[in-house]
Amino acid sequence: MVKIKEKTKIAPNIHSCTVEAPDIARKALPGQFVIIIPDEYSERIPMTIADWDAKKGTVTFIFLEIGASTQKLAEFKQGDDLYSFTGPLGKPMEIKKFGTVALVGGCYGIGGIYPVARALKEKGNKIICFSEARSKFMLYWNEKLEEISDEVRYATVDGSLGIKGHAYDDIEENLKAGKKFDRIIAIGCTFMMYRVSEASRPFGIETIVSMNTVMIDGTGMCGACRLVVEGKTKFACVDGPHFNGHKVDWDIILSRRKAYLDEEIISQER
Ligand code: FES
Repeated sequence: MVKIKEKTKIAPNIHSCTVEAPDIARKALPGQFVIIIPDEYSERIPMTIADWDAKKGTVTFIFLEIGASTQKLAEFKQGDDLYSFTGPLGKPMEIKKFGTVALVGGCYGIGGIYPVARALKEKGNKIICFSEARSKFMLYWNEKLEEISDEVRYATVDGSLGIKGHAYDDIEENLKAGKKFDRIIAIGCTFMMYRVSEASRPFGIETIVSMNTVMIDGTGMCGACRLVVEGKTKFACVDGPHFNGHKVDWDIILSRRKAYLDEEIISQER
């Protein structure tokens, strides 16, 4: 069990949760994830690690209240124990000097790009973050991102901050206008990562996406997280979660995302 040290609602339906997990905090690297079981009757929920503090022994993750399990998790309070918290899992993001790196984050992915951007900045890269949400009040960690980035660009669907539209529109416009990126990294909803990959494909810029396929064990045993990359089956949990977005078979991924929609609705009603 791990204790919740701090839990804050940082935007409507979006929570930041910091837990005491010293072993994980000591070993975590940018881009890795944990699997959480809130209580003994809950399913396993994979969460991208958004931050950690090896000295304090804490790990922070951001989650969106989107289904029955995350709604249950949202009811936990500071001082409560989570039944299980396993990690760090997955391969870390490749961190080296690339030049100019664009990092695109939406929903929980804004928290996901933060440690990656920080590590890449420390390696001497120029960091441009693209943060997106439906409206200004749904964006979070703006100051944190601004602190470690050379530029933070905002996109909101209602136009209340930054460009009106999505971060993938902004990336596309920047590329068409001749802006040079040496690498693009996208973390967030599947459709956003797909659109970012499609936007950068004609320009041949390596685009890394963090795949969030359905996971169960998170250690390569169940096959639930499989995806097809360059015609080969890969497991997001152990071969990823980071893959070249130009090599992912998006048709399969996008069709599988809704496979359990009916069960999810029943679960929420219960
Ligand atoms: Fe089971 Fe990846 S989650 S193999």
